[in-house]
Amino acid sequence: MPEAAAARKGSPWANPSSPHQFGQAARTALDSARDRVAVALGVGSAELAFCASGTEAVNLALLGAGRRLPEGRALVTWAGEHQAVLGAARELQLEGVPVVILPTDRFGLADLSLVPAEAGLISLGLANNELGTVQPVAEVAALAQERGALLHLDCCQGPRWLRPPLELVDLASFSGAKLGAGPGGLLYGRQEVRLQPLVYGGPQEWGRRAGREDVGSALAMAAALGVCAAHREEEAERVALLSDRLLVALNDAGGELTGGEPRLPNYATAVFSQRRGEDLLLALDAAGIAASSGSACASGSLDPSHVLLAAGYTLEAALGSLRLTAGYDTTAAEVECAVETLRRVLRRQSIRPLAQTVLSQPRSSN
Ligand SMILES: Cc1ncc(COP(=O)(O)O)c(C=O)c1O
Repeated sequence: MPEAAAARKGSPWANPSSPHQFGQAARTALDSARDRVAVALGVGSAELAFCASGTEAVNLALLGAGRRLPEGRALVTWAGEHQAVLGAARELQLEGVPVVILPTDRFGLADLSLVPAEAGLISLGLANNELGTVQPVAEVAALAQERGALLHLDCCQGPRWLRPPLELVDLASFSGAKLGAGPGGLLYGRQEVRLQPLVYGGPQEWGRRAGREDVGSALAMAAALGVCAAHREEEAERVALLSDRLLVALNDAGGELTGGEPRLPNYATAVFSQRRGEDLLLALDAAGIAASSGSACASGSLDPSHVLLAAGYTLEAALGSLRLTAGYDTTAAEVECAVETLRRVLRRQSIRPLAQTVLSQPRSSN
């Protein structure tokens, strides 16, 4: 996002904790970034902690609150959540905290019927990051209140298009990259929620995250969230038309559409059971089109998407997933070019059916 890039570029270089004039200029810039984020999200400045990434913000929320859970209370989340959530959940489990991972349905929607009475901390995504399905946050918030549990909302995916309902939650994490701000992360935590820090040191970020602050990332996130708050409705309407076009193209090309309603307005996803998602990505990439298959963290390997497996897709289908998303700067002409390229790529014989590439390979003996 150009506004975020410009804000990062002009950021003061000094340590905001230094008393000299350069440090004070950095402190002023950081405070102003925090205040602007607070206004964009409708929360208090003292409830925000800047981090290095969305993953760190999620970990701070889940480990920070999870390690303070009263005896017998559990972290509850869903099998289709992002690896940042599932990884932190695994760590808590290893430390002896009860963890319950619940199923999702075919659309990636969280099943709320099984949230146990002992839930002490519930973690849900604003929207599923692979399928774009928007989660029932208000219902989960009501359930959390009924159970006396804290609610963490993973807002890394979606805040460009949906207003994150922070008034319903105790903790919420954001990713700079997903906001178009580049590297960076942010944790919102209601002031009364006590968190055990992940790193120890100085009193930065209200004692929630020690270490020198990254002023450039904070300024970039403030700029990006300001743009989102000002333009998200009109942009959501505009990109919905683009993703409708992509959904028709994916369906016409023989894909099985995935995800469900309500979905993020910029998402078009499908599985091609006879193809490898990675092959499709590489062919699209060669034509200048940046698509995804599974989660970005898992790309570079043949691992099937854990989200699609959790949604009940077969291994073959999960290996052939394709995600096309539109952004604030995506044009209708670019979408037409993507549609044409996809048709061409799928016609090409050089993309081998999955059965010949993965499933028929001999197993290694170890
Ligand atoms: C839902 C969700 N949570 C967490 C993350 C992690 O954010 P980051 O890449 O900034 O660490 C992502 C990133 O894709 C995400 O989509």
